[in-house]
Amino acid sequence: MTAADRWAAELAAWAIPDELLAAVDESPYGWPVELWRRRSEAAEAAPEPETTRIVRELAGPDGSILDIGAGTGRASLPLAAEGRPLVAVEKDPGMAAALRDEAAARGIPVEVVEGAWPDVADRAGPADVVMSANVVYDVAGIVPFLRAMHDHARRAVVVELTERHPWANLAPWYRALHGLDRPDGPTWEDLVAVIREAVGVDPAAERWSRPGGLWYESWDELVAVLGRRLVLPRQRRGQLRRLLEGEVEVDRGRLYLGDRERRMVTVWWRTAPE
Ligand SMILES: C[S@@+](CC[C@H](N)C(=O)[O-])C[C@H]1O[C@@H](n2cnc3c(N)ncnc32)[C@H](O)[C@@H]1O
Repeated sequence: MTAADRWAAELAAWAIPDELLAAVDESPYGWPVELWRRRSEAAEAAPEPETTRIVRELAGPDGSILDIGAGTGRASLPLAAEGRPLVAVEKDPGMAAALRDEAAARGIPVEVVEGAWPDVADRAGPADVVMSANVVYDVAGIVPFLRAMHDHARRAVVVELTERHPWANLAPWYRALHGLDRPDGPTWEDLVAVIREAVGVDPAAERWSRPGGLWYESWDELVAVLGRRLVLPRQRRGQLRRLLEGEVEVDRGRLYLGDRERRMVTVWWRTAPE
């Protein structure tokens, strides 16, 4: 099995059984825009992420940036705020609208290309650095995704991801609530194997951690967000609350669940000699 096949197979193993999906009225996969906005605010207060430092160094003072799966712009707006031209690709119309609002509110110019990468790759020109943060675990077709990034990058490609699949921490609750086992992978090391195989380069990898940044303003919000991820019908949310009771930390009125540091990796490679 190739590394790319293994990546796709591990992601496919995360698929949620149809009978669970049939019992709920909202998709478990969506990200409430409000939570991303909150996370972006927390990120601004936190020490600068390694990814920002690496992209800044690779792009230089005025190199252009293409951000794939930009969300509300958390990873790339700070770099654009320093004067670098930014094109952001985002497939979710709600996220794209929130990104436009955020950039406008901060007076940062950004061109937003709405659509899924690499389908819309021909609507985005080449850039000095092509980056993507917290997206690859969403991408089963990882080879065309990475190759199109590589082909659009004049100087370098930078990929930020968590060490493990972002749903890995949900596994115990899936087991407790549905009796369902969840896979272990893929991990950042699997991504490196795919890059070696599909792009033919040996990327550098920088490991670091960031404050989780995700907090909830009430038990109702926490149970709604997590219940959605766990494909839990509304009438079972009381059960989830009981399950979480010992695991939630309350700090200055905010509810935190699980590890407050997130283990991150920034994987990058040059596409041209220095
Ligand atoms: C977890 S968020 C990360 C947002 C941002 N990069 C950050 O680090 O804060 C992932 C985003 O990638 C977008 N996305 C996922 N796959 C994509 C694709 N193939 N093309 C464009 N956007 C994609 C999703 O809509 C979502 O907004």
